[in-house]
Amino acid sequence: ADTPLIDPYGRSIEYLRVSVTDRCDFRCVYCMTEHMTFLPKRDLLSLEELDRLCAAFIRRGVKKLRITGGEPLVRRNILWLFRALGRHLETGALEELTLTTNASQLEKYAGELYSAGVRRINVSLDTLDPVKFKAVTRWGDLGTVLRGVDAAEAAGIHVKFNAVALKGINEDEIESLVRFAHGRGADLTLIETMPLGDIGEDRTDQYLPLSIVRARLMDRLTLEDNPYRTGGPARYVTVKETGGRLGFITPLTHNFCESCNRVRVTCTGQLYMCLGQEDDADLRAPLRASPDDAALDAAIVEAISRKPKGHDFIIDRRTKKPSVRRHMSVTGG
Ligand code: GTP
Ligand code: 5AD
Ligand code: SF4
Repeated sequence: ADTPLIDPYGRSIEYLRVSVTDRCDFRCVYCMTEHMTFLPKRDLLSLEELDRLCAAFIRRGVKKLRITGGEPLVRRNILWLFRALGRHLETGALEELTLTTNASQLEKYAGELYSAGVRRINVSLDTLDPVKFKAVTRWGDLGTVLRGVDAAEAAGIHVKFNAVALKGINEDEIESLVRFAHGRGADLTLIETMPLGDIGEDRTDQYLPLSIVRARLMDRLTLEDNPYRTGGPARYVTVKETGGRLGFITPLTHNFCESCNRVRVTCTGQLYMCLGQEDDADLRAPLRASPDDAALDAAIVEAISRKPKGHDFIIDRRTKKPSVRRHMSVTGG
């Protein structure tokens, strides 16, 4: 059998995040500039190639697969990929097939995602104020997103909400987001905004450390440590007043690289060993060079042997540009 993927620091790689498109129907202010240049479609891996690539990782012990983007549900015929990947759930090789989405297309796709085997999804929701929602996403509509969430839950898919904590934008709304999510029986995780790619503004203006958010919440709510883990980076508490779970993803104030179990592939087949580093490996060339997977497999093993110890999020003081130049929508979060 194929040997599992273990990196030089002894971390076992069981979680693959796959970005299927760098495009999105929103333009969140912390993620993109208003006018983005997207990759030419001819550079993208085909859905068949993405399927083959995922299968190669699953053979080497990947248990959790998350489809991301950009917005994964804007990729044409994406349901084909979910159905193809769902077969690894049936054999038991894969434990979880999931996605991170802005929910704009969920109303249409929820039922078919459930049929493909998706049972839990993460929905990005940074504000519950329709006017602010429009301001943050530039192009999004809150009502459509909430209808998408309702459709997912009606189809039997569990929703977790993600909110990026943004200074001066949603910092006054964190408690409402907690109460909203928990009122629906959903988890919420808060994320520290990371300096990834140029957004045409000073990143430090938006950054709000979650240590501050947590301290403010504790004036109003009782937070009790909860050992719940998903295989993702969030650390959870239970909010006593609501009985719900609240997660904190803190790459900047509390680094979690030591327990990293994941790598990510872009829609052009670049493997990134860390979200916050530039090291990569090209998997598209070996995929296309031969229908046999030997070269692909060798490229994956070689790349894992170079996985860095941790991220390197720096904002250059002079240029104010982040050290990691690619956007979250390329690497897939
Ligand atoms: P579950 O725990 O399965 O719900 O998912 P997840 O937290 O792994 O996935 P999700 O797409 O909800 O990720 C939320 C965000 O956490 C990502 O978009 C990133 O912003 C951040 N994140 C996830 N993994 C890493 C990582 O390895 N390093 C850093 N710095 N951030 C990460
Ligand atoms: N820092 C932190 N989170 C980000 N996201 C997008 N860009 C950033 C960033 N620079 C979030 C989205 C989504 C998830 C995939 O990543 O809101 O929830
Ligand atoms: Fe699209 Fe997500 Fe980026 Fe917003 S954060 S622009 S929804 S990829």
